[in-house]
Amino acid sequence: MKFIVSLLIIFCSLLFTIGCSEVRDNITPAPSVGVHPEGFGDESSPNFHKFIFRENDWSFNLTQCQSCHAANYAGGTTNVSCLTCHTEPAGPEACNTCHGNFTNPDYIAPPNDLEDNSDIGSKGVGAHFIHVYDNSKSTNIGCFECHQQTVGEGKFVNIHISPPPAKMEFGEFSHADSLGLNPEYDFDNIDCSNTYCHGGFKFAKSSSSNSWAYSEDYIVGNNYTPTWNSTTNLDAECGTCHGQIDTVNNVEILTPRPVGHFGNYLLKDCANCHSSVVNSEGEIIDREKHINKLINYP
Ligand code: HEC
Ligand code: HEC
Ligand code: HEC
Ligand code: HEC
Ligand code: HEC
Ligand code: HEC
Repeated sequence: MKFIVSLLIIFCSLLFTIGCSEVRDNITPAPSVGVHPEGFGDESSPNFHKFIFRENDWSFNLTQCQSCHAANYAGGTTNVSCLTCHTEPAGPEACNTCHGNFTNPDYIAPPNDLEDNSDIGSKGVGAHFIHVYDNSKSTNIGCFECHQQTVGEGKFVNIHISPPPAKMEFGEFSHADSLGLNPEYDFDNIDCSNTYCHGGFKFAKSSSSNSWAYSEDYIVGNNYTPTWNSTTNLDAECGTCHGQIDTVNNVEILTPRPVGHFGNYLLKDCANCHSSVVNSEGEIIDREKHINKLINYP
């Protein structure tokens, strides 16, 4: 009997991992939230249901609520519909219910994070906004580039709800292929290393049709390790991902000219030759051409 039960458990967890909602609706797990405490539907109460999810470290998921409030959350026998307040088409399963902006479904990444933090110093918030929604250096980056496991292209697993921290697995683009290195996220130091995006690149003179632009065998980036929740913006300044200290009129300054790049060019000069990417003010004018894995000359 024990054996059959274990088999059943394994089978059910398999179905759950597949994350198919039709399958999910056929399973009614024993509810762990039975009789609600006073104030479960009242935002000003410490017993508001939002806090119950958090206090339980996300150890239960919405299928438990569905068992009484109906699979479509319209209320069922309880007569209390989730949809009166959770008005997105997906109801409480909307991606901005638990993280992102609860009042604007266009913003599903933190801020706010799972603890309601909104400051970039919190690791759950960090640099999400400037990567995902407001990127001045390249095109906006999709979730799958850093959370491949959860949001692969077309392979989002709806039941990803488990205790934080978030799962980190990088997409193809960010791999520092020319250095032979894979990107990594360090949960202790809260930083990313070996990403193509932050200068994990190396272009070879030997395979270039513009070998004159090389002062060495390779033009290399700095393979910089940015801190995810840095509260200064220095991690994305020109010269950080690629650049070096140049001495101009006896003054040392950081220029974005990568190591191995000929000439003594300053920021204002890049536009002379990379005019499709930057202007003479040193601003990125075409985000699709910067950090796109391609040489853009001019
Ligand atoms: C065992 C059945 C059952 C389960 C499981 C269940 N509910 Fe309920 N819920 C009810 C009933 C019955 C009511 C209406 C009576 C009441 O307010 O207690 C209700 C009412 C509510 C209300 C309105 C409370 C108020 O004060 O107006 C909210 C919000 C709510 N449920 C959320 C949830 C959430 C979120 C879950 C999953 C974590 C959940 N429920 C799971 C039975 C259930
Ligand atoms: C009376 C309005 C109301 C009802 C009814 C209601 N919710 Fe909510 N729910 C909210 C509000 C408001 C929030 C908090 C949004 C925020 O983060 O500011 C919330 C948050 C949540 C969260 C996110 C928890 C978190 O940590 O951010 C979940 C999950 C959720 N509700 C599920 C449900 C389910 C399932 C039902 C129906 C069983 C339900 N809610 C019914 C108003 C409601
Ligand atoms: C540039 C990489 C990157 C991208 C792109 C990205 N994230 Fe994240 N995400 C992170 C990092 C780093 C963390 C923090 C991990 C930690 O240390 O806990 C994180 C954490 C999270 C968390 C957990 C927050 C918490 O409170 O712990 C959520 C939820 C999340 N991301 C959702 C998203 C969504 C949704 C998208 C796309 C809309 C997205 N992320 C895009 C890097 C990224
Ligand atoms: C009921 C709450 C809830 C809802 C609804 C929700 N998430 Fe999450 N999300 C979480 C929690 C909790 C985590 C942190 C750890 C985990 O479960 O993976 C998370 C983490 C993430 C992450 C970071 C990677 C990871 O798995 O840790 C991404 C990306 C993400 N969610 C995307 C989405 C998308 C897209 C949707 C809508 C289709 C969505 N989430 C709906 C609770 C939710
Ligand atoms: C006189 C022309 C010239 C100037 C000025 C110049 N570059 Fe280049 N740069 C080139 C050429 C040509 C290549 C392409 C090498 C190749 O095709 O292999 C190149 C390659 C690069 C590369 C590596 C390959 C790529 O396209 O990503 C980077 C990074 C780079 N330049 C950045 C800069 C920056 C930053 C400045 C300003 C400080 C600058 N360059 C100024 C001509 C120039
Ligand atoms: C987040 C890291 C990062 C930052 C910050 C950054 N770059 Fe780049 N840049 C790259 C990468 C990676 C490349 C390699 C080529 C590519 O993929 O576009 C590059 C290439 C270039 C090139 C060569 C043309 C091209 O795109 O091929 C120029 C010029 C350039 N950057 C200028 C700048 C300027 C000006 C700034 C500051 C406004 C800047 N970069 C800041 C990562 C960065």
